[in-house]
Amino acid sequence: MIDFITSSVLLFGSSEATIQLPEGLAKALIAAHSGWRYIILILLVMAIIYGKQTASGKKPFEGGTKKMGMFTMIAVDIQLLGGLVLYFFFMASQTMFKMGKLKDQMGISEFRNIAVEHAIGMLIALVLIHIGYSKAKKALNDTEAGKKQYVFYLIALIVILLSIPWPFLHPERGWF
Ligand code: HEM
Repeated sequence: MIDFITSSVLLFGSSEATIQLPEGLAKALIAAHSGWRYIILILLVMAIIYGKQTASGKKPFEGGTKKMGMFTMIAVDIQLLGGLVLYFFFMASQTMFKMGKLKDQMGISEFRNIAVEHAIGMLIALVLIHIGYSKAKKALNDTEAGKKQYVFYLIALIVILLSIPWPFLHPERGWF
């Protein structure tokens, strides 16, 4: 704790100091953020399938389809909260909030992938899901509502799949 406070105080005064999450907490948060991807992917696929069925008139929007859209949105919002905490500490440890260090780090693909591509891609996906949910709720009929959920959530799924740092593209990352 003392270390944590000391390094926070020194943050802006030294090129060496930074702030860090306690190790156990950092590991738990990364593991939760990493594993939560599968919950999001399953919910997204279900919301898309339900949306498609509603769009083709096989299911009403109220009930399963709307609930699945809402659960997906909540799961992504939870991921954003964890992601923002991780982002702050990730940037602190990699750049010490110094412009010069940030410029140097931008040349390293492992850093750029998380700091720019991952964060921006996921924020775009989150906005798409919120727009899709709100448009589906305001739609004039069930077919239209199902179509909105289907289209917006499908695009969000593609953006998320492209923004996840998969281990086959980033060997330093894991499956869980
Ligand atoms: C649908 C949303 C998201 C998904 C599915 C997701 C998924 C992931 C995955 C799979 C990892 C790799 C974890 C590992 O290597 O063990 C990761 C890392 C990370 N994510 Fe996300 N993420 C999402 C949103 C966000 C957002 C919105 C932010 C920040 C604005 C963010 C910030 C981070 C950071 C900083 C790391 C690196 C953590 C570290 O190694 O220190 N994520 N994310």
